[in-house]
Amino acid sequence: MDPASRTYYLQQIGLTAWRQRHFDRPSKLAEPSPPARPDSTVTPAVPEPERAAADVSGPEQSAARPIDTATTSPVAQMDWAALEAWLAEQDHRGASRPVFGAGARDASLLVIGEAPGAEEDRRGEPFVGRAGQLLDRMLAAISHSRADNTYIANICKFRPPGNRDPKADEIAADRPVLERQIELLRPRAILALGRVAAQTLLDSREPLGKLRGRWLQYPGTDIPLLISYHPAYLLRSPQQKSLAWDDLRQMHRYLKAGPP
Ligand code: URA
Repeated sequence: MDPASRTYYLQQIGLTAWRQRHFDRPSKLAEPSPPARPDSTVTPAVPEPERAAADVSGPEQSAARPIDTATTSPVAQMDWAALEAWLAEQDHRGASRPVFGAGARDASLLVIGEAPGAEEDRRGEPFVGRAGQLLDRMLAAISHSRADNTYIANICKFRPPGNRDPKADEIAADRPVLERQIELLRPRAILALGRVAAQTLLDSREPLGKLRGRWLQYPGTDIPLLISYHPAYLLRSPQQKSLAWDDLRQMHRYLKAGPP
């Protein structure tokens, strides 16, 4: 079966036969536009002038805009090895170990999740629990894998205690590492999974439903950014897998065809 086909994908991510029949009906969604003209209308979390002075210490605050690691961060100029070593020396915030990221360092696709869970904390690798296994199957359906052409990272590099949502100061603390990873990778596209990743990368408070499924741009760069559902959410709400497939298919088309 064609690995890029809808039926193949739906089987990979575990949709039952009746659901496949249901979802194999033509999508009512309009075909999203290619990343040539990314959407720059995303509402910022706080008005522009206030943002620089925003306090990032409380959970209600959004993270700052992407940090200019070339001038402001201790990780500026670090290579992969130095960056990973630097992260290992930071406060673990109660986690067992940092979860730096994993995958191909010449990847065309960068996938960004939220934060490590229990299994990731145990093994030091992102997305290795149930949600990670689903993510691997989803990526395989578009011929991508962390062994080959995909890098996987999280917004937060340390597991938040009790799996709670990461706090703004935790996000801000780990942001330079993610920024440097993006600089080192220079991926052709970024796939952000779930609300925390989407809102952090875009510095937005828009709900996920409004952000997903259309080409955006990673602020401060020309890297196309697509938002989709987090696989942990898809495990709880399998009826949304069909929309996630629409997102992945869009990403696959872009990565295969190249910029228009
Ligand atoms: N969820 C995430 O967002 N990241 C992981 O690494 C695991 C689960």
